Amino acid sequence: MQVIIADSAQEVARLGADQLSSLMRTRPNAVLGLATGNTPIALYAELVRRYRSGNLSFAGARSFNLDEYVGLAPEHPQSYRYFMNQYLFSQIDIALEHTWVPDGMADPQTAGEAYEAQIAAAGGIDLQVLGIGRNGHIGFNEPSSSLGSGTRIKTLAPQTLVDNSRFFGADEFQPSLAITMGIGTILRSRKTLLLATGDAKADAVKAMVEGPVTASCPASALQLHPCAVVIVDRAAGGRL
Ligand code: GLP
Repeated sequence: MQVIIADSAQEVARLGADQLSSLMRTRPNAVLGLATGNTPIALYAELVRRYRSGNLSFAGARSFNLDEYVGLAPEHPQSYRYFMNQYLFSQIDIALEHTWVPDGMADPQTAGEAYEAQIAAAGGIDLQVLGIGRNGHIGFNEPSSSLGSGTRIKTLAPQTLVDNSRFFGADEFQPSLAITMGIGTILRSRKTLLLATGDAKADAVKAMVEGPVTASCPASALQLHPCAVVIVDRAAGGRL
């Protein structure tokens, strides 16, 4: 695991964008694994900035997102498909039909395997972007998730529901299930890039980097990956 401690959240976004930019230069038809949440918003803004200045193109790229809420249609403003369209896909030259986000409305029995088959048909993921939950989750792989898991439905942990409730209105339906790539899926990507900012993530980052490899901190599985890069700001890296 390569751990980079950057001076600021802005610098985390810039260094993260450098990783994606150099991949797109060397492999214009790269398969990207993408994430949602607050953390990658600055990364996507930086990628959009580089695209607009003519330094970066995603015309040949394909992308697979980590997860989606079960029960939210793509046009729902809290869906991760909506998020991706808003912050990235509509702002760059990636072909929308070359972007995949798990389908929150699909048959839960078959949706996971179907998504795995789509990733495999694309040749696997070259670079998987990740954030981390305060309880060490990656994607929506909550503590106790199997380290070998594939894409499937997961029940969200109470802390995750509380952490993500800020995105939902008081009277709005907040899903308690999600479809998520598994830890096995994430480990199969050729490179992983986890970004974390802010002191609320400091304990999770410490457990991921310095703790034992354990299902109680799903992100610790990245210690097993041969090419895992972690970029944190000083606050998120404050307990290392
Ligand atoms: C969500 C997502 C994760 C994300 C995590 C942290 O639950 N499923 O992919 O990494 O929250 O989000 P944030 O970056 O907003 O702290």
